[in-house]
Amino acid sequence: HHEITKVKNITQIVMGEYLVEAWYYSPFPPPYHQIDTMYICEFCLKYMRKPHYFLRHRAECPHRCPPGDEIYREGRLSVFELDGKDHRVYCQNLCLLAKLFLDHKTLYYDVDPFYFYVITEVDDKGAHIVGYFSKEKVSAEDYNLACILTFPQYQKCGYGKFIISLSYELSKREGKPGSPEKPLSDLGKISYRSYWTHVLLTLFSEQTGEENIQIKDISLMTGIKTEDIISTLQSLNMIRFWKGQHVVFVMQDFLDKYMARKKKIKLCDERCLVWTPHA
Ligand code: COA
Ligand code: NA
Repeated sequence: HHEITKVKNITQIVMGEYLVEAWYYSPFPPPYHQIDTMYICEFCLKYMRKPHYFLRHRAECPHRCPPGDEIYREGRLSVFELDGKDHRVYCQNLCLLAKLFLDHKTLYYDVDPFYFYVITEVDDKGAHIVGYFSKEKVSAEDYNLACILTFPQYQKCGYGKFIISLSYELSKREGKPGSPEKPLSDLGKISYRSYWTHVLLTLFSEQTGEENIQIKDISLMTGIKTEDIISTLQSLNMIRFWKGQHVVFVMQDFLDKYMARKKKIKLCDERCLVWTPHA
């Protein structure tokens, strides 16, 4: 079927201390569907059209963090898990907001079948939303992430790779390798490729001796699905098909260079994650 690309309907949003330009159309209901500036409470995600309502709401809103359970805390970083069914309005608002930065169609109202993981940065004013990912409660395709977003004011600081690493940490605990839902946006592709490359090359650099590492073992260790491991290694020219099997060829030279140049990357520390798989 064909989706008409709709014209951007909201020019910008005010969120916390930031003024952020929207990227794409989002189906906010009337009378919020065609406005210049939208005001968002960064704690409860209520959206407003009038600055004076916003100021009053800011003074009166009792919330200082997302609803749901805090499952991760490391320094100033906190992550909350929300069941879409228990926090319907917050999650619907989050999806509408996220659509302002997502090109393709996403869900907005039927949030019940998803969990939402909201990443925040905490200071003395509260837990400020940085981004999130959503995850189907049940996925027949082994998807471990449906939608990922870092709000533009926090992008390019490494949060995307942190969020991706958290989604894989959950998959590892479930004992079930997963993969992000397709299609990925261009920025999504860049972020996943960068994360997969980092994880695989770091793993190889930590290997000792000549043991022959199997792709299915790498998959269990990292939570990354085998096809994503294979495509990443193909892009690095590190895999051959030999006697009916994929064989990894680690080029020590290349590996050493990568590890030496590697930027410091902040990934999820499993010791800070208090979470067990849902029954
Ligand atoms: N142009 C080019 N590269 C960019 C970029 C941009 N505007 N923004 C980020 N990148 C690169 C970074 O340089 C980094 O590459 P590196 O690891 O080689 O250094 C990589 O993307 C990830 O950056 P990181 O800071 O970890 O991620 P982020 O917090 O910026 O978030 C997304 C990444 C995808 C979550 C974010 O861009 C986003 O929310 N985009 C809009 C929503 C979307 O497209 N989601 C995915 C589809 S569901
Ligand atoms: Na309003």
